Amino acid sequence: MNLATTTSTRLCLAISTAAGVSSLPLSSLYTASRLLTSACSSVRPLSTSSRQQPTTRPYNLKYNSKLSSFHNTKHFYSTLTGNPATMKALVYTQTGQVSLQEKPMPKLASPTDAIIKLTQTTICGTDLHIRKGDVATCTPGRILGHEGVGIVHEAGSSVTQFKKGDKVLISCISSCAKCEYCRRGMYSHCTTGGWALGNTIDGTQAEYVRIPHADCSLYPVPEGAGGEVVTLSDIFPTGLECGVINGKVSPGSTVAIVGAGPVGLAALITAQFYSPAQVIMLDMDPKRLAVAKEFGAHDTVDNSKGVEDAVKQVMDLTGGKGCDTVIEAVGVPATFELSQKLLAVGGTLANVGVHGGKADLYLDELWAKNVSITTRLVDTVTTPMLLKMVEAKKLLPGKLITHKFKFQEIEKAYETFSAAQEHGTLKVLIEM
Ligand SMILES: NC(=O)c1ccc[n+]([C@@H]2O[C@H](COP(=O)([O-])OP(=O)(O)OC[C@H]3O[C@@H](n4cnc5c(N)ncnc54)[C@H](O)[C@@H]3O)[C@@H](O)[C@H]2O)c1
Ligand SMILES: [Zn+2]
Ligand SMILES: [Zn+2]
Repeated sequence: MNLATTTSTRLCLAISTAAGVSSLPLSSLYTASRLLTSACSSVRPLSTSSRQQPTTRPYNLKYNSKLSSFHNTKHFYSTLTGNPATMKALVYTQTGQVSLQEKPMPKLASPTDAIIKLTQTTICGTDLHIRKGDVATCTPGRILGHEGVGIVHEAGSSVTQFKKGDKVLISCISSCAKCEYCRRGMYSHCTTGGWALGNTIDGTQAEYVRIPHADCSLYPVPEGAGGEVVTLSDIFPTGLECGVINGKVSPGSTVAIVGAGPVGLAALITAQFYSPAQVIMLDMDPKRLAVAKEFGAHDTVDNSKGVEDAVKQVMDLTGGKGCDTVIEAVGVPATFELSQKLLAVGGTLANVGVHGGKADLYLDELWAKNVSITTRLVDTVTTPMLLKMVEAKKLLPGKLITHKFKFQEIEKAYETFSAAQEHGTLKVLIEM
């Protein structure tokens, strides 16, 4: 997920040239929702704090003075309904700060919702952007996180594909599967979904989360797959859809990937499904370039000596032609500008990075080169295919996980994740 929710970026993405998904059988994903009256039987939460005397008592209970001795509301509520009243969650509190807090349990808000009990979650670079205050749509008080694996705790009455107890992968993109954009394969622009989790609605860095449009926003976890499949919530579909598919990586082609972070590395791994002849990874961090080599990059280029040097190295490696596909996986003007200079005649520049400002387009150099430039907000339409690759053991979802934490240590996980260069961090797996 990313920051592409500012109005300007959304507009930019809306007019983008997202390609490669129109042939997906959307009809197979469409699930007719019966608009039944919610059979939701959940009891209203008692209080936002586990230490307070509940102000709203569960219905059909006469107030009993003995209840006032229940200081542990969580236990009290749990005894009555099987649901705890509150849960632990990582909250964006103010610019520069997140904290682990006690928050009310989420409730079904629509018959198409499901409540998921998280078993694994992770942190995305986008969560760090939110913490910095870069994402205007995400306001203080929000539970962060848009990636997760868990168990269906409660399914709304119109949810037909999942039931209580099912082990599921949560997509970072929520999709109704019915609106104009969903039917065109652009789930990211779903009129009642898209990137909502951990942004405009509470997210997955919590013990429980409410997932809207559960039928098309959750996926069954394949038999035998573990919690590391959480890397399929965002990172792998992003590298594949925005980078590899939009960039038209094909057998025998030459590929440059600028940025060897989790997203660039996911693009590197999924590019190999299409047998390119040569993949060149560029970054300024030698540790990440070494990881890229391990993950199948044929060549690596350290571009810290400047654009000219990097372009020369890539041209030398490609017989002076440049690359058929250039995947930009950083999101700063310098890398978008560098990417243009690495393109071969007829090449495609697939922008993946989230850009907070404008970047130069060298149209004077590119106009006659028959190139294409694409942008895309991840749609997660490839998630079912990626899950099949996991099942077939052709994709190892844990490859990008370098650190593991218990959920209670999530604040420490944020520190380790944000000091990636110091700790050699790629993805952190947070287990409940
Ligand atoms: N389009 C989408 O839907 C989508 C989804 C998820 C993430 N993203 C975006 O993808 C980008 C990559 O995500 P990530 O999690 O891998 O980020 P990251 O910050 O972990 O990795 C970025 C990498 O780029 C390298 N880098 C930084 N400046 C560089 C430069 N000038 N030249 C070369 N390398 C440089 C860093 O060393 C790092 O290895 C981000 O912009 C993220 O927001 C987009
Ligand atoms: Zn993300
Ligand atoms: Zn939709």
